[in-house]
Amino acid sequence: MIELYRGLDRKDECILNAIFDNMWDFEYVPVHAIARECGISEEKIELALKKLGGMRITENKYTEYLGASFTFKGLSVFSLKRLVNKNAVSMLGNIMGEGKESVVYNAMSERYGEVVVKFHRVGYPSFKKVKEKRDYGSLHYTVLTVRSAKREYNALKKLYGYASVPQPVAWEGNAVVTRLIDAKELFRVKISNPGDVLDMILEEIKKMYARGIIHGDLSQFNILVNSDGVWIIDFPQSVDTKDPMAQEYLERDVKNVLDYFERTYRLKKDLKEVMKYIKDET
Ligand SMILES: Nc1ncnc2c1ncn2[C@@H]1O[C@H](COP(=O)(O)OP(=O)(O)O)[C@@H](O)[C@H]1O
Ligand SMILES: [Mg+2]
Repeated sequence: MIELYRGLDRKDECILNAIFDNMWDFEYVPVHAIARECGISEEKIELALKKLGGMRITENKYTEYLGASFTFKGLSVFSLKRLVNKNAVSMLGNIMGEGKESVVYNAMSERYGEVVVKFHRVGYPSFKKVKEKRDYGSLHYTVLTVRSAKREYNALKKLYGYASVPQPVAWEGNAVVTRLIDAKELFRVKISNPGDVLDMILEEIKKMYARGIIHGDLSQFNILVNSDGVWIIDFPQSVDTKDPMAQEYLERDVKNVLDYFERTYRLKKDLKEVMKYIKDET
């Protein structure tokens, strides 16, 4: 990632900006649109795109014209560049985790200290699936990915200070930066006071609900714990409590948590009672 980043000059940077600005309108952004935005000749843009394509930063395609879109790597390098430019990140560290829909790095920020940079890649490999095609038309997966990052950042912004979530630091493109929490995922640890921890988690779900947000993908993988408490992470699937699917998602989130504690710690709580508690109907 860092090597790719260093290999970019000002012209490349302008090209990446132009692709980003136009990707909402074009699956492959035409050379003439990039040339116009950068004030550089089409021939020079074509040459630069060949280089960027070779670096796997852009995917170039000839239709009636030559056009370019981001690869996941390209979008991530672009987003990182913007984060560095605005001083949110000063150094990228090691990969902390790599999932189907994201790659997460340790990083340093002069302003915030140790942070985590999460590069989203929603819809990337499975984008050609019929269902998604129908839902999103010809929108490129990069658009979906940026939307996912934005949704996560907005949810964190809304929740931070009200519920126990990582502090959001910045969002650019497909990257969301949060402050590092020194804690482990719930599924990795054997806790000695599961009853207390379960109550703390349910209280967080209740606080998030009161703030108008349902996580939508809650499980032992998206809850961090240490001796100080619990944190809820990973919000790209979150929905507003007014969403038509809200109640279904909330119940699924709660059920995931209750099932995990029952399975792992033989702790049983009644789903209906817990739902009432969360919605403040008791
Ligand atoms: N702010 C954070 N502090 C500490 N670890 C984090 C933080 N954000 C993410 N992580 C780590 O990265 C992993 C993946 O992040 P997550 O947001 O759950 O993305 P996904 O599960 O979609 O890949 C988490 O399970 C956790 O170990
Ligand atoms: Mg996760």
